Amino acid sequence: MSKWWQIGIVYQIYPRSFQDSNGDGVGDLPGITQRLGYLQELGVDAIWISPIYPSPMADFGYDVSDYRDIHPLFGTMADMDHLIQAAHDHNLKLILDFVPNHTSDEHPWFLESRSSRRSPKRDWYIWRDPAPDGGPPNNWLSRFDGQSAWEWDAKTGQYYLHSFLAEQPDLNWRNPELRAAMLDVLRFWFDKGVDGFRVDVSYRVMKDAQFRDNPPNPNWQPGMDPAKQVIETYSRNTPDIEHFNRWLREVADEYEDRVLIGEINLPPHELVKHYGRSLNGFHLPFNFNLIFTPWDAAAVRTLIETYEVALPDGAWPNWVLGNHDQHRIASRVGAAQARVAMMLLLTLRGTPTLYYGDELGMLDGDIAPEQVQDPWEKKVPGLGLGRDPERTPLPWTAVPNAGFCPPDVTPWLPLNADAAAVNVASQQANPVSMLTFTQKLIQLRRETAALNQGSYHSLPAPDGLLAYERRHGEQICWVVLNMTGESKKWELPGDAGETSVLLSTEAGELPGIANGALHLRPNEGLVLSV
Ligand code: NOJ
Repeated sequence: MSKWWQIGIVYQIYPRSFQDSNGDGVGDLPGITQRLGYLQELGVDAIWISPIYPSPMADFGYDVSDYRDIHPLFGTMADMDHLIQAAHDHNLKLILDFVPNHTSDEHPWFLESRSSRRSPKRDWYIWRDPAPDGGPPNNWLSRFDGQSAWEWDAKTGQYYLHSFLAEQPDLNWRNPELRAAMLDVLRFWFDKGVDGFRVDVSYRVMKDAQFRDNPPNPNWQPGMDPAKQVIETYSRNTPDIEHFNRWLREVADEYEDRVLIGEINLPPHELVKHYGRSLNGFHLPFNFNLIFTPWDAAAVRTLIETYEVALPDGAWPNWVLGNHDQHRIASRVGAAQARVAMMLLLTLRGTPTLYYGDELGMLDGDIAPEQVQDPWEKKVPGLGLGRDPERTPLPWTAVPNAGFCPPDVTPWLPLNADAAAVNVASQQANPVSMLTFTQKLIQLRRETAALNQGSYHSLPAPDGLLAYERRHGEQICWVVLNMTGESKKWELPGDAGETSVLLSTEAGELPGIANGALHLRPNEGLVLSV
């Protein structure tokens, strides 16, 4: 029997931008609860909500100051309890974000840790003496500005490590007390009925025990992401990470039917190690490789085949096309290909994660310099690294502020300029909108075992077309995607027999099969029943 997290679709909610219920211009938990009907109708199975915990918001919630409470911006613990219940009533699973690599520098643990070298929590964080020249202990760089990842603490005369902002000190998971405290956080939420966790930068948690220098990156040039001046050999994905993965898994396994999803940005052969040697690591190490592969049929096909081959026996695949850290798919590949991308995401073998707003084909928002919120953009402006464009509010209707927040309130980030046209209500009313198409595709996936759990095989196709078979028992589907703006002919790979087209990305009549071939329109993707 397949698990819910294998057959199902995960939908990521960036809570600040989903639905404001109290008129402060920031989305919140009651807002999400109000919109569960929308998600159920869309047809997704689980929602993952980015962090909603108390936080000074230096990194918009990824700097947690209390793992067991709710930030007042998002509501109360009662709102969270209500949301968990309401989600389950809507047949939706609820996944929270767990941020184990670092806390906020305002977390009481860190305040205690930095108070004295003799603090009982000193070792809960990563403190080191200066190098002999008084400088930082090694050459590791902060992910957000490419400056040293070590911050000097004059009071206690040591440096602490922060892989991200100085306001995000890294935790020391080699300390058994810290470990126990963090694992209890998981239990706290599991006991409340939460169905799983997406684990923030899980592959960074265990650092090299000797804190060796990272090697320089010979390919780095000025103008590139400054953090990439070194290759992160010793500051992430160290061999010890398998212990961390197992510790988390052991806690999840104390409960029934929960899922752990690791945020792991690695190529397939490295990524799949995070399933664990005997599948005792993450259920789903997030597979981001589609995001970083050129949008080209041959390249995508090679990626799929490489990943499929790399997967250990029994490991369940997964695919991601967008999230709150990446420019939106419709901006990356264009509006026409965004539909093809959605068809790819929802017909590949494995659990898809859909980023809120991608079902509308939302584009990146335009953020004026004075509207910038993201610390990354503030630290290194103008390199295109800022993440505000993909975090703009979800437009619900065609009124000012699009029903996200009241018309007279300034939302925390501006609505997209096209919100009056690209919004949920107008797309629901349009039988050929991206939303209607996505809903049909989800429905088809849900009712077709070949699509939601069948095997994958590549099929022959000419340049520019990506074609594959999904098969479950006797049930067979073919998917063929025209990843170009030109018409293309596809010769069916076998006897046309009863083959028929079930769904197209394009409006109008479905293409017919004649003489064992079909013609795809520019940017057209098709699902066929064989
Ligand atoms: C990855 C998260 O997705 C990102 O938004 C955050 O800034 C970093 N981890 C640091 O927590």
